[in-house]
Amino acid sequence: MNAVNMDVVVRNASLPDGRRGIDIAIQGERIADVGPQLALRGAREIDAGGDLVAPPFVDAHFHMDATLSYGLPRVNQSGTLLEGIALWGELKPHLTQEALVERALQYCDWAVAKGLLAIRTHVDVCDDRLLAVEALLDVKRKVAPYLDMQLVAFPQDGLLRSPTALANLKRSIAMGVDVVGGIPHFERTMADGAQSVRILCEFAAEQGLRVDMHCDESDDPLSRHIETLASETHRLGLHGRVAGSHLTSMHSMDNYYVSKLLPLMREAGVAAIANPLINITLQGRHDTYPKRRGMTRVPEMMAAGIAVAFGHDCVMDPWYSLGSGDMLEVAHMGLHVAQMTGQDAMRACFTAVTETPARILGLDGYGIAPGSYADLVLLDAASPVEAIRLRAARRMVMRRGKVVSEMPRTAAALNLPGRPSSVDFRLSRRDR
Ligand code: FE2
Repeated sequence: MNAVNMDVVVRNASLPDGRRGIDIAIQGERIADVGPQLALRGAREIDAGGDLVAPPFVDAHFHMDATLSYGLPRVNQSGTLLEGIALWGELKPHLTQEALVERALQYCDWAVAKGLLAIRTHVDVCDDRLLAVEALLDVKRKVAPYLDMQLVAFPQDGLLRSPTALANLKRSIAMGVDVVGGIPHFERTMADGAQSVRILCEFAAEQGLRVDMHCDESDDPLSRHIETLASETHRLGLHGRVAGSHLTSMHSMDNYYVSKLLPLMREAGVAAIANPLINITLQGRHDTYPKRRGMTRVPEMMAAGIAVAFGHDCVMDPWYSLGSGDMLEVAHMGLHVAQMTGQDAMRACFTAVTETPARILGLDGYGIAPGSYADLVLLDAASPVEAIRLRAARRMVMRRGKVVSEMPRTAAALNLPGRPSSVDFRLSRRDR
């Protein structure tokens, strides 16, 4: 056997596609080879012990400008969307660039430890100072060696409702923000909402940019801006570059209308981003009982061939007091809310926090294959389903061939007569 020297070889990995006993050879920043029992030697050898090695988690929808501001200037006592919006209004005048940068950097530390190495974050452009834009562009540069950040220019107060929003959005794109955002359901009228979609899609087409709008984040079944978004995407040839985020009104829409809508989205190649943790808590608040679930139609869109990702949306901010950057928690909630408990459906929930959002962001070199970047996460689980069930520990996180986070295995020590001395929550290790 000819031993060829590699920088790193990861041995005996299970992959998300079900392959087992796979070695991954890494040279420099990239994967050189993937296969069973590779005849290669690594300067560093990492034994995965049959555990799952996945490409990194990707969050397709986040708000980095608000994250970790929990308690500033006070906590959201009611936990409602309205108090969250009021709180954000109270906080905005006190934001400083330094504090924004510091909180975002701290969140990125959490993300790396959770194997989350790519985040698309919306940034509010309705502050004429564009303080948050400057801060997050700075953070994007700072974290680039270990995390891909993609910024969306988000006119949070409405593109047409806020007098300076369009000019600010264009300025922020000129400063280096990557994606065109929007919030059509928040404009004054349905007609204004549709008009905002047209203006923003035309601007994106002119500039060659991607689009990701907060779209129909409402329980109103007549909020149908996704239809305009799909139609504008088709008209302007933006296929594959547009995403609709939240899309919660679809939950309440008439089935007949949805049967027309989904093929339109599919035809335009519009992706959907559901945010299960946030929408299950914020939507349906005007209902008595039964209360609607605040999540869009995930399995139906997947079945229609639409790319669907799950996003985290918020972590410890005015709208959501919980979260830790764990995309497995997001997938776990999405799986439950959508009743995606079939085996293929559960695996699809893992894909919705890895490969699908990577495609929506247009990430280069993503995935476990020769030539891809050596970005990997070793999980304390044997399979994607087990990873979701346990929100499995990230034992090792690698970025561009370098280990950036490690976590030793931990187990509770038991003191019970006639029982094992420690607890193992995994069934799969018994099979080996
Ligand atoms: Fe959002």
